[in-house]
Amino acid sequence: MPPEYYLLIFFILAVSVHSPANAISGDLPSFREAPAFRNGRDCRKTTSHNNNNNHHHPSIIHIAMTLDATYLRGSIAAVFSVLQHTSCPENIVFHFLATHRRTDLRRTILTTFPYLSFHLYHFDTNLVRGKISSSIRQALDQPLNYARIYLAELLPSTVTRIIYFDSDLIVVDDVVKLWDINLGGHVLGAPEYCHANFTHYFTPKFWSSPLFSKSFNGRDPCYFNTGVMVIDLWKWREGKCTKKLETWMRIQKRYRIYELGSLPPFLLVFAGDVEGVEHRWNQHGLGGDNLEGLCRDLHSGPVSLLHWSGKGKPWLRLDSRRPCPLDSLWAPYDLFRHAPLFSDS
Ligand SMILES: *[C@@H]1O[C@H](CO)[C@@H](O)[C@H](O)[C@H]1NC(C)=O
Repeated sequence: MPPEYYLLIFFILAVSVHSPANAISGDLPSFREAPAFRNGRDCRKTTSHNNNNNHHHPSIIHIAMTLDATYLRGSIAAVFSVLQHTSCPENIVFHFLATHRRTDLRRTILTTFPYLSFHLYHFDTNLVRGKISSSIRQALDQPLNYARIYLAELLPSTVTRIIYFDSDLIVVDDVVKLWDINLGGHVLGAPEYCHANFTHYFTPKFWSSPLFSKSFNGRDPCYFNTGVMVIDLWKWREGKCTKKLETWMRIQKRYRIYELGSLPPFLLVFAGDVEGVEHRWNQHGLGGDNLEGLCRDLHSGPVSLLHWSGKGKPWLRLDSRRPCPLDSLWAPYDLFRHAPLFSDS
């Protein structure tokens, strides 16, 4: 091979090593250390950090989130926002679900939040292998998106209620208010959107099949977003909800009854049987449209949680210097350690 070929290969390798894609698949990004958040005087006492026995304590708030390299910056911001706005931060236990590189992720959480009570679980992607059918957006087809279906199996049976949060949101209110809602005998609580045309979430093939569409008989189904959910895990286990969701995923694989990812199975199992949570707890859609990526405004009414669901993510738009106006509300929670622009030395 002539020498200039070697030079060309070297050049290609050098360029690819410095591409942003490699920055993601290599080391995890680094984050600034969050301050220690301490309980206020009126908080109920809890046992020490990372103590498994504290699952039994009723004052403990359990929050589940996924962790992966792509959304890590969002997850860290979400955790930070929860801690900042709650009066009893030491009463919160995070349950993180991850597919790979758990030691890296554990180290990142430990160094960013040295005082956090958390557990890290391995989500085995084999659980959903062969059950995911491609949707309108590739990001929705990631196995980790389906981890929320398996909370009842992954978390210890002593955890009987869980809040599930997506990784592209921030909480700007005391999460205890969401935690304390009365589920009214329902398995699941979430803000409902009954004005959305429910027909659109399923294909004509679904509605034209009496067998499928009759699954909504006796229910008045409304759309809800699965990025913010309060779940009674005891009732979920009792009702074998994971199996029900998996059954619909298998049906989807065969008949293509919807176009979205992990949301429609939740609608099929729960819609119309959901405890409606105040809309302030999921101001969703701030990521913009699935297809267009446009900026969105807040829905009217008070705000306790901002959710960048949709294609655009605030950290990507801020980095590209083309943010949407509301992305500035996410920025104060960003602990990502940017590379210094100038070196003083
Ligand atoms: C919902 O959408 C379907 C299909 O586009 C349409 O036939 C139906 O009239 C719509 N319903 C409402 C209440 O707008």
